[in-house]
Amino acid sequence: TITRVTGRRIWDSRGRPTIEVEVESADGTVGRGIAPAGASRGTREAVERRDGGKRLGGYDVSGALQAVEHEIAPLLVGREAADQAGIDAALIALDGTPQKSRLGGNTLIATSLATLHAAAAQARLPLWRHLAGAQPVRLPLPQIQIFGGGAHAGRRVDVQDFMVIATGAGSFSEALEMTAEVYRCAGERMARRGPLAGVADEGGWWPSFEDNEEALDVLVAAIEDAGFAPGEQVAIALDIAASEFGQAGRYRLALEDRELDSDALCERLVRWVERYPIVSIEDPLAEDDEAGLQAFTRAVGHRVQVVGDDYLVTNASRVQQAAAVGACNCVLIKPNQAGTVTETIAALKAAQAAGYAAIVSARSGETEDVAIVHLATGWNAGQLKVGSFARSERMAKWNEGIRLEGARPAPAGFWGRQALQGGDR
Ligand code: PGA
Ligand code: ZN
Repeated sequence: TITRVTGRRIWDSRGRPTIEVEVESADGTVGRGIAPAGASRGTREAVERRDGGKRLGGYDVSGALQAVEHEIAPLLVGREAADQAGIDAALIALDGTPQKSRLGGNTLIATSLATLHAAAAQARLPLWRHLAGAQPVRLPLPQIQIFGGGAHAGRRVDVQDFMVIATGAGSFSEALEMTAEVYRCAGERMARRGPLAGVADEGGWWPSFEDNEEALDVLVAAIEDAGFAPGEQVAIALDIAASEFGQAGRYRLALEDRELDSDALCERLVRWVERYPIVSIEDPLAEDDEAGLQAFTRAVGHRVQVVGDDYLVTNASRVQQAAAVGACNCVLIKPNQAGTVTETIAALKAAQAAGYAAIVSARSGETEDVAIVHLATGWNAGQLKVGSFARSERMAKWNEGIRLEGARPAPAGFWGRQALQGGDR
């Protein structure tokens, strides 16, 4: 039985306030949940509650903390943490708005995750095992950023994430080691090209490039420098995050100072798929461009993974609708887009029912919280995306995967390239 629910303000990887919630049970065990924060958000995702105004840039969460103390705690105390669905339904009803704007998606996901952790703590199980139950689950295939761009790098390049997937890796830790070599070689190349300009929001090298293709060329070269065959052992994954520079079928490429229509952007990306060892592309067209997403999926969905993030916003009914019209073939799963654990699981189940792959994902604003790794593993989602291979809010998560690999009992192996949708080339 839940005896106490408390909120506190902590700080995220951008130095902004975020909300942490603790759920305590009668046996003395505690579960803790922390809200991450996105920068390139879908318009339909759960809305954060922030104080607004000038202080702390308007990002403070004192209103959200008040809501935990005065509304959420009284609602949860006396309930069972194991009743995740019941608690999430009560939270949704208490909020009462379509996008959780009253209490805040940040307030609700921190509470919902704290409840989940509380149930695992009561069962005296690590979170991933609590979620897996009797089902054999495998460690996810990581997607790891090498260059950050878009909204995470002052829009220095249009594409948001230039990532690699170690398709030749036989284990989670081997995938990390291979990526570490590529990340290091990419940094050396950037240093040789001019003064190394640091890293972007998620720890990827700052993208000092003349155009998006140059970033792809340097990435392929870095994979080769690291001694890997591009496409065979290490492949490329992109998050175009096209909603950030496109609307109503018009896409403004800042680097080229040029506007493309939906067909032209689609053709450009198809050309990249043909020219570069790309196995996954996220948000290739904007969230409002369903026809473009359908066309792109028709064109290359049989050979690459087409991932919906801003377009699907971790929402089960949007996933079902996308599947009905053939847009995308993989779903990005971000718990804070949905706002509760129960809705996140529903989106994942909708993906699985549609034959879509799934990538459990962190946000660009993160903390030391490693729950996302347990969710990806315990839900047996197949793939995991938490940013680059630097900075401890990212490394804490990759390192947690190594710990799970060595746990006793451990997950039943590693998904590897089989997790990818659209053939593995
Ligand atoms: P965000 O970016 O967390 O800033 O929204 C991550 C993504 O687009 O996948
Ligand atoms: Zn994205």
